[in-house]
Amino acid sequence: MARFIALIPAAGSGSRMNNQLPKQYLSLAGKPMIYHALHTLCSSSRIFKVFVILAPDDNEWGHYDWPSFSDKLAVRYCGGATRADSVLNGLKSMQADASIRHDDWVLVHDAARPCLTISQLDQLIDVLAVDEVGGLLAIPVADTLKRADPNQRVMCTESRNGLWQAQTPQMFRLGLLMDALGKVDSTTITDDASAIEALGLRPRLVLSDAYNFKVTYPQDLALAELILQKRETK
Ligand code: C5P
Repeated sequence: MARFIALIPAAGSGSRMNNQLPKQYLSLAGKPMIYHALHTLCSSSRIFKVFVILAPDDNEWGHYDWPSFSDKLAVRYCGGATRADSVLNGLKSMQADASIRHDDWVLVHDAARPCLTISQLDQLIDVLAVDEVGGLLAIPVADTLKRADPNQRVMCTESRNGLWQAQTPQMFRLGLLMDALGKVDSTTITDDASAIEALGLRPRLVLSDAYNFKVTYPQDLALAELILQKRETK
């Protein structure tokens, strides 16, 4: 039986947050941001192991205690220049682990999506465990979409019909994802599914919700904090 292994690329600098500290370590509900996604992934009984991919020169990880995750957690200092490079390097280091097989499923999840829930994770795994290709959590686009000219004036309105916003986790077999990421120009893609699409395959979209948003700008932190605190008090 194939197993489900999570991989969190966490080697980014988070330049859009205007903060010296990399985004994954910003304080959120009293913990570094990455703690929240780690907690969800490590507490899922369906996830066999969780790999965290850090920048080779990461100085922050060691400042925190991670004992509650220790039995599932594997930390690797092999992040690359782009997200895709970090994921590919992480997959290569996973492959070197004798307990992990080519046909195991890998769930790649951004450290910057702290509000992932166990039920979203279960939904993803339930839908995709029998899928030929794999896929990702996503939500249909809700807003009207405008294409801008260089002067920030509307050139046209784009149809939102059939458009979805990609989230993570994105779930593919280890062998297929390594093959796909090894063939693309890592500077041109922003998610894992794009590499699979470039092979001519069609990843499945699994309906998620807006709570699983990516913390990108400073104001996103307050929203994520509210969501996490509300859950804690339930
Ligand atoms: O910057 P962005 O929000 O798109 O990053 C998404 C995820 O990819 C984050 O968890 C970030 O740490 C990770 N990343 C990485 N290596 C890079 C760039 C981003 O692991 N070189």
